[in-house]
Amino acid sequence: MTLSIQPDAQRSVTVRAPAKINLHLGVGRPRDDGFHPLDTVFQAVGLYDDVRATDGDGTVTVEPASYLPDSVLTDLASGDDNIVTHAARLLAATAPGADELPRVDLLVEKRIPVAGGMAGGSADGAATLVALDRLWNLGTSDERLLELAATLGSDVPFSLLGGTAHGAGRGDVLHTIPDPTTWWWVVVPSHEGLATPSVYRRFDEMFPDAPATPASSAGTLAALAAGDPDRLAAALHNDLEAPAIDLRPALGDLIAHGEAEGALRGIVSGSGPTVAFLCWSGDHARSLADTLQGDDLPVVLVANGPVAGAHLLP
Ligand code: C5P
Repeated sequence: MTLSIQPDAQRSVTVRAPAKINLHLGVGRPRDDGFHPLDTVFQAVGLYDDVRATDGDGTVTVEPASYLPDSVLTDLASGDDNIVTHAARLLAATAPGADELPRVDLLVEKRIPVAGGMAGGSADGAATLVALDRLWNLGTSDERLLELAATLGSDVPFSLLGGTAHGAGRGDVLHTIPDPTTWWWVVVPSHEGLATPSVYRRFDEMFPDAPATPASSAGTLAALAAGDPDRLAAALHNDLEAPAIDLRPALGDLIAHGEAEGALRGIVSGSGPTVAFLCWSGDHARSLADTLQGDDLPVVLVANGPVAGAHLLP
């Protein structure tokens, strides 16, 4: 048998990037640049978007999972104003010989809830940076990729890093936290997203006297080190939860419902509206998900963490 190598064969790279849950989200009063100082603990959880970059003519296509609302397509695929295109342009602009880079088609397989507080857009941005770095053979250093990620959005560096990490600054100054436990979550997205800036604005209205220094994540870090779900449940903290519930009161009822059905604790994920319920084990999470799934809650997902950040698929 003869193997023929086709030099002109279309090349393709697929990168997978995870969703996140903030186990602690301490928010201080806005800085001079308008961003809020954070003391946060991110955990990457096993819900992923995949970005496939292929030699092509520059199209961006989104393939949403069946459980995501149809509005995802109109929200994400409109024009050039999406994080995938921004990431591609940013990387190309910093590459030597930018004009000679081949054009690419980008396909986003979306599974992370959109505008849900789980960094789905950030995952797409991070995955695009890594996919194009490999497809274009740029060899960009991890440090440079993290810098580029931070210019795309506050949560994009964590989407690259994954695992469990402490975040300071506007969430982009990261330190990895050892977290050998597998934590189990039931994730309940909302049909309609919440815009992050509007949740931060509501936070400012509700808490005009918020301290400059955000609430410390020390209790959450100690619970992670102990590997104890009861301790982590008690320590979970999110300063954006009250404004998210104020904008979407049904979220408060959802949290109470999940806790009454046996969740160790329910919490709004990031700026919401996705709610994450901490469970004892995989069996507990699957059984709670079965209980919660119904007419009112058509989409109930199970995920565990921590998982890896943006990585190449074979
Ligand atoms: O950085 P990113 O583009 O994800 O932020 C979206 C919006 O969320 C910002 O424009 C800002 O309104 C708000 N934000 C903030 N403080 C942060 C992160 C985000 O006020 N630390």
